[in-house]
Amino acid sequence: MKKDLLKLLDLSREDITTILNTADQLKYETKHSIHRDYLKGKTLAMIFEKNSTRTRVSFETGMFQLGGHALFLSGKESQIGRGEPIEDTARVLDRYCDGIMIRTFGQDEVEELARYTTIPVINGLTDFCHPCQVLADLLTVREYKAVLEGLKLCYIGDGNNMANSLIVGGLKMGMEVAVACPEGYDPDPQVLDFARSDPAHKFSLFRTPREAAPGADVIVTDVWASMGQEEEKAVREKAFAGYQINAELMALTNPGCMVQHCLPAHRGEEITAEVFEAHAQEIFDEAENRLHAQKAVMYLLMKEA
Ligand code: CP
Ligand code: NVA
Repeated sequence: MKKDLLKLLDLSREDITTILNTADQLKYETKHSIHRDYLKGKTLAMIFEKNSTRTRVSFETGMFQLGGHALFLSGKESQIGRGEPIEDTARVLDRYCDGIMIRTFGQDEVEELARYTTIPVINGLTDFCHPCQVLADLLTVREYKAVLEGLKLCYIGDGNNMANSLIVGGLKMGMEVAVACPEGYDPDPQVLDFARSDPAHKFSLFRTPREAAPGADVIVTDVWASMGQEEEKAVREKAFAGYQINAELMALTNPGCMVQHCLPAHRGEEITAEVFEAHAQEIFDEAENRLHAQKAVMYLLMKEA
């Protein structure tokens, strides 16, 4: 049966570990100029209904490095933008391609696409989650800290797609997860249910960053207004004032605490320029690891497909 990557909730700890280990191997091969065409002759369709820099470039480059081909379909310029139903697009792409990556709004669209295809579907971000980004984050943290289990991951800001995937990914890998969100901007209820469903999960939700940050080994934030929320910008600027990674907050974290940001970053909002630049190496390693983590996902899902 074909496998998809729709959300981290669908994956076990073993699945995530397999992806991270495969990513390590593929990264090693790339860094040592070992070229293997694992996906020779395969095509990945990439549907974008939202903007992207990292996701588009890392998937396209990743597919090229694996010996395959990626093609870009913009929501606006394809028939999707003129209202062709997702289930029809799915059944058409299924006849031409070997995998689909989709970035869109509703998680239901991605799930629908997966239902109507026999080829793997990979979620490149929805309003609900950003699994590829968090696989790259976990890969980066594991590279720096050697382990994930037992580390404290702190997330500051909007309970958005990034928060949802970090909570699920962090807890599945045995990390302690502490989140600080303003009231009204909590993570998705399905994610909170998951977090609170298992007594072994070390999870807490606070209303202030100062409560969540102490003892953090990795601290993460994201933009106050995500794609599609541009009209809420002013309201959100008020709601999120103070939900910032700055020097004062960093002083509460463990020595050697890493900073991760999926990018793009808004300096002076969710993170200060000072903290961003002090941790730029980790943040751009994280961006690089999108490539390696996604190559692992494509390899594992598409090799036999
Ligand atoms: N972090 C991330 O997904 O970046 P893009 O929006 O540039 O793809
Ligand atoms: N939360 C952000 C992540 C961007 C990569 C957004 O959805 O716009």
